[in-house]
Amino acid sequence: QEENLLKGKKVLVTAGPTQEALDPVRFITNHSSGKMGYEIARAARNMGADVTLISGPVALDAPADVHMIPIISANDMFTAVKENYKDMDIIIKAAAVGDYRPQIIAENKIKKQGDTLEIKFVKNPDILAYLGEHKKEHQVICGFAMETQNLIENAKEKLMKKNCDMIIANNLKVEGAGFQTDTNVATIIKKDTIETLDKMSKYDLGKTILHHICDIMDEKKGA
Ligand code: PMT
Repeated sequence: QEENLLKGKKVLVTAGPTQEALDPVRFITNHSSGKMGYEIARAARNMGADVTLISGPVALDAPADVHMIPIISANDMFTAVKENYKDMDIIIKAAAVGDYRPQIIAENKIKKQGDTLEIKFVKNPDILAYLGEHKKEHQVICGFAMETQNLIENAKEKLMKKNCDMIIANNLKVEGAGFQTDTNVATIIKKDTIETLDKMSKYDLGKTILHHICDIMDEKKGA
């Protein structure tokens, strides 16, 4: 029964962008709308899972019957993930996390100065890599890879380096894929297989991802 495939499973999804403050009025962010992660969360809930959604600032309504944890920055998301990941069975990282943040958050509004302005950035924690390092026996971890070139090679590298079970690769430059659209065009990369999917709604892609994860869980059980 479709509705019961994930019954009793705890699913953690991250969605949306992060915002990295420069001063009290400005921040650095990206174009993620949160749609991909929210649709995965809805699909998981409809398949019977107990779903937690950690979300950056987006304009979407929270899906019903999902435990919402709103965050702003990559560091906030890291804290929320660390507090919640341990007893999750499935973790899906659809969020577009800022790789860097301004080294200093100015206490007051940065004043207009000369013709150029230099801002130093420092690296944010890699949340997916942390999850890979601390992965529990029973967990399935699914990352995303958003690229504009060498999609498959870069995604495969992420899969191995970050100890994930699966990577969903999407290319911003493909029509109907990536940020803000209601559809996506994805390639599902597992340790031994690569499958490129046709364009489909983000909800249907969410369901497809969760079916692949069910297969991985069955393989783990059989191993
Ligand atoms: O939100 P939408 O508008 O619907 O758009 C969907 C999407 C394009 C944001 C989504 O499909 C997507 O590709 N999400 C991942 C975007 C991304 O940050 O990709 P990346 O290749 O930079 O990161 C790889 C993986 O590491 C991702 O799972 C990301 O969540 C994770 N990561 C990245 C950096 C970091 N500091 N910590 C992380 O955990």
